[in-house]
Amino acid sequence: MLALSGALLEPALAGDVAAGRAKAQTLCLHCHGVDGVAVLPGAANLSGQQQDYLREQLRAYRSGGRQSPHMSVVAKMLTDADIENLAAWYSSIKVSVEMPK
Ligand code: HEC
Repeated sequence: MLALSGALLEPALAGDVAAGRAKAQTLCLHCHGVDGVAVLPGAANLSGQQQDYLREQLRAYRSGGRQSPHMSVVAKMLTDADIENLAAWYSSIKVSVEMPK
């Protein structure tokens, strides 16, 4: 029974947070910030975003399924491992929201 319920669980998401941070520092920083708060107008905030969402968008930019003058170029420089690591890094950043009064 235990083995069966284990098999039904989602596999743990891979990705090395420290390696993702290091990569973000070299490739993503000027537009998204290393902390995922965008510095380029038109770029998205990435901190706290869902890991699977980040992975899928990076794959889509790389394959051409999603197009962007910036991201289509950047994503072609990424390996599968880079994508996993970057998704792990940006999703791991904790975001706290202060609601306007
Ligand atoms: C030259 C600027 C630039 C660089 C460098 C850059 N990005 Fe982007 N990124 C953008 C822009 C602009 C967009 C919005 C594009 C669009 O409209 O699809 C974007 C969008 C994204 C999105 C989609 C966000 C969403 O909400 O759907 C992800 C994920 C992303 N970038 C990750 C990265 C990562 C990871 C790196 C580093 C490997 C990186 N970007 C480097 C400019 C950049």
